[in-house]
Amino acid sequence: MLVHIKDLIKKAQKGNYAVGAFNVFNLETTLGVVRAAVKMGAPVIVQVSETTIEYAGLKPITQIVESVAKNEAVKIPVALHLDHGKSFRSVAECIKVGFSSIHIDASDIPFEENIILTKQAVDYAHKHNVWAQGELGILRGVEDKAQVPEDMAPFFTDPDQAAEFVVKTGIDTLAVSIGNMHGIKKFRDIGVPDLDLKRLEMIHKKISNIPIVLHGASGVLEKQLEQSVEFGVRIINIDTELRLAFSNAMRQILERDSSIYDPRQIFAPATDILQRVVEEKIRMFGSAGKS
Ligand code: G3H
Ligand code: 13P
Ligand code: ZN
Repeated sequence: MLVHIKDLIKKAQKGNYAVGAFNVFNLETTLGVVRAAVKMGAPVIVQVSETTIEYAGLKPITQIVESVAKNEAVKIPVALHLDHGKSFRSVAECIKVGFSSIHIDASDIPFEENIILTKQAVDYAHKHNVWAQGELGILRGVEDKAQVPEDMAPFFTDPDQAAEFVVKTGIDTLAVSIGNMHGIKKFRDIGVPDLDLKRLEMIHKKISNIPIVLHGASGVLEKQLEQSVEFGVRIINIDTELRLAFSNAMRQILERDSSIYDPRQIFAPATDILQRVVEEKIRMFGSAGKS
């Protein structure tokens, strides 16, 4: 069933676990994520990016998620979220079609401007009973060719600024930069991301009642995920590992049997493989059985 994100996150706050936020872009990836949540008895956040909205259309992808949540997850709570909304307009459009949560990502503009744009989005979201996620600190590695500096620390979230940001914007959740990185680059060239957990602990101390969001969590080791949950992470974002699982599965299926011409013979097993990745993440996040 489709529910408001606050129902999931308030429960996760009390129970000290994190809810997985998984990116989807079509029927198959939505089925894989929601079926994993059902199998694990776990709450789940299904999220779409602006590029997915461009790809699938806002209404079609919204209705796919709503319909899969309603029909496949009769007793399992599913929340719909906009991932990395870059403008007020994109946030407002998602709110209009019924998202219960949006992310306004103004982390790449100066602090004072980030506050202004984030507050504008938060005020609009709250007027419509929607939760808003803000972001402070820059995550590198979205682009395949992105330059990742030797020393990432200057881009990390500052704990004092985080406290000021929360007060001045009124956000419901905060995405932080603590060594986490988006995209494929960490798998191809950099290796396992190492989180600055001391910094996370300091941020959590300053904003202890605000759920923290860990983006770029594909590839992060289980031990570090567990520790980040201890220090206030309540939402963990996974996209790249799902893309890899889905694409690699399709590639292998076609390589094994080049006579396949019915796409369902490719999509169905690829969806199952994606589902298994989501199940494993749910187990790591501690949200299995918490529906
Ligand atoms: O954090 C970003 C997500 O992985 C979305 O990426 O814009 O390519 O869908 P995308
Ligand atoms: P990954 O690229 O590590 O999967 O991060 C996903 C993410 O943060 C989506 O917002
Ligand atoms: Zn992200």
